[in-house]
Amino acid sequence: MHLRPVTAADFPFLLEMLLEACNWDGTPWYDEAQVRADDRAWLYLADWPRATDFGVIAEVDGVPAGATWARLLTGERHGYGYVADDVPEITLGVSPAHRRQGVARAALSELIAQARLASYPRLSLSVDPDNPARRLYESLGFVKVGVVGTSDTMVRDL
Ligand SMILES: CC(C)(COP(=O)(O)OP(=O)(O)OC[C@H]1O[C@@H](n2cnc3c(N)ncnc32)[C@H](O)[C@@H]1OP(=O)(O)O)[C@@H](O)C(=O)NCCC(=O)NCCS
Repeated sequence: MHLRPVTAADFPFLLEMLLEACNWDGTPWYDEAQVRADDRAWLYLADWPRATDFGVIAEVDGVPAGATWARLLTGERHGYGYVADDVPEITLGVSPAHRRQGVARAALSELIAQARLASYPRLSLSVDPDNPARRLYESLGFVKVGVVGTSDTMVRDL
């Protein structure tokens, strides 16, 4: 596995991973047109890349296998895991063929390191309590700080 910073050219793969995150339980809630039309979900990729966006692509055999990226949002326009204007919110997805091989753990650990280097105070995210990703987040030090709808908001101090 090779980890590298995300670039502007990764947009198509990030879109794929955003759809994996939106459809995390296997139900096809969103296709590309629906995610683009959903004001809140699309905030994670709208105008990609913004100046403060950062993230990690995990490649296996030279091909993107997973991605995690973080974006600053505002109190006025934010996603599901927003906690503050200076706390980037994370999106994470791994292609089905590459799951259960440590891709998400490696990529997210690197994202946390990047965020710390950039002097952000915290990272945040939103996750359904039934999503197995929740266990990964807990093991990497994220703690639940609230509930929005049916999902938990989790925060990692840096
Ligand atoms: C969740 C997801 C990112 C995990 O990616 P992955 O590369 O398979 O995860 P890893 O192999 O690094 O596993 C890390 C930990 O996550 C947990 N985990 C991941 N998938 C799991 C599963 N299917 N069942 C149980 N635990 C699981 C485990 O705690 C695992 O640690 P362990 O291997 O020490 O048991 C991937 O399944 C995915 O893309 N799902 C759809 C998108 C999504 O849900 N994104 C997160 C939205 S909040």
